[in-house]
Amino acid sequence: MGRNGHALKISVIGTGYLGLTHAVCMADLGHQVLAVDVDADKIQKAARGEAPFFEPGLEPLLRKNLDAGRLRFTGSFAAVADFADVHFLCVGTPQAAGGHADLGYLDAAVDALAPHLTRKTLLVGKSTVPVGTAWLLRARARAAAPAGGEVDLAWNPEFLREGYAVRDSLAPDRIVFGVTSDRADQALRLVYATPLAAGVPALTMDLETAELVKVAANSFLATKISFINVMAEMCETTGADVLKLAEAIGMDDRIGRKFLSPGLGFGGGCLPKDIRAFRSTAAERGVSSLVGLLTAVDTINLGRRQRAVAMTREAVGGVLAGKRIAVLGVAFKPNSDDIRDSPSLDVCRQLAAEGAVMSVHDPVAMPNAARAEPGLRYADSVGAAAEDAEVVLHLTEWADYRAIDPAALAKVVACPVLIDARCTLDASQWGAAGWSVHVPGQPRQQRPEGTQNAWPARPRARRRQRAPAAG
Ligand code: UDX
Repeated sequence: MGRNGHALKISVIGTGYLGLTHAVCMADLGHQVLAVDVDADKIQKAARGEAPFFEPGLEPLLRKNLDAGRLRFTGSFAAVADFADVHFLCVGTPQAAGGHADLGYLDAAVDALAPHLTRKTLLVGKSTVPVGTAWLLRARARAAAPAGGEVDLAWNPEFLREGYAVRDSLAPDRIVFGVTSDRADQALRLVYATPLAAGVPALTMDLETAELVKVAANSFLATKISFINVMAEMCETTGADVLKLAEAIGMDDRIGRKFLSPGLGFGGGCLPKDIRAFRSTAAERGVSSLVGLLTAVDTINLGRRQRAVAMTREAVGGVLAGKRIAVLGVAFKPNSDDIRDSPSLDVCRQLAAEGAVMSVHDPVAMPNAARAEPGLRYADSVGAAAEDAEVVLHLTEWADYRAIDPAALAKVVACPVLIDARCTLDASQWGAAGWSVHVPGQPRQQRPEGTQNAWPARPRARRRQRAPAAG
């Protein structure tokens, strides 16, 4: 029985980030789960208890539920249709040319499953889709299913963050049920009986609103980030401090401090593609004000990467060709090995395109980055990345980097210049250790005395003998 007394038979279609996490968490709630994917390799790995991506806490939970016999994997849609009464659609909706969402995987999932649906069934969409998609999928499934009108469809958007996927799935801020029948609402309340009993609020609404909730939430988060980043630009021209500004406006309950961290802007597999897809939908529907808002948010965001490149160029005297640049962090955010639309990797690419010699470190994302950008040099420690560097860029704010000893690192670089594009290192500590520190949205020099106001004129000569590497 489920933790709250209702063990259901559930299938999860798609075992990517969203699907695998959802399957594991559904099993952990006590349900019997069969997950299906067209990628045999993914299925085999998952069945062995291996997650194909870095997500804290996921693998132990995967193994626990495999061992308990609550979670199985298959490549057969017929088996899934035979087994489960509720089917979660968790396939990807990547960005297509022109910015709109590519619904090909969703259509293919429904086409593969529906011909096997011979009894009353509930399909539940979790993927991020343009408004109106759920009705189209419902008609598509009913047309192909022997059970016809007995196939119901609901929309239950997912809000999980990478790095916190398990926590966000098991204890979300809210659960959204987009439904067209009481039956679907009741079935979803049984699926989520445990979190609901623990006090997580559930909101029942129509399909269109449920679809929009997800893209509206991501658009708002992206807007918040771009807002604080334009404030950073304003602070730079006035000598004000954007971190103090964020702290002060964030204390207003109506604003809140979360998602007001300035720096290199947002990336990843969700926010950038979701705001572009939403902009396409808004354009199709003639909502030009939303097109304008989301275009501005995207443009501001991409501008942060160019700003980091410009700061680096300035730091090395105006010409990047041949300059040795160390990069700390390449994942799109800490606690993830995901490099999809990584702001850091984009900056690396732009610097390399101008001829800079890049040496990159990341605690977990280097294998993925090396596959995407084999031309960069990857170093297995912070010290090795920084060796002989003329400037060090902090581009993903891993906790490990806050533990760096700046005095030790100063001994291995050619020139102690730090650009903290994520605004999270202790600038006064680095300044006290002899570094020239630049933080976007802050007065340039972060030395405690505030006396020296220029980049160091020349790098020191290349070293022959190394001091012990830091990090
Ligand atoms: C996001 C949403 O948060 C989540 O609800 C949705 O389901 C999927 O998309 P995720 O992509 O995992 O989750 O990352 P998130 O933690 O939201 O960060 C997105 C990007 O914004 C990262 O690149 C991060 O570095 C950046 N960011 C975040 C900022 O630049 N400043 C901030 O204040 C917060």
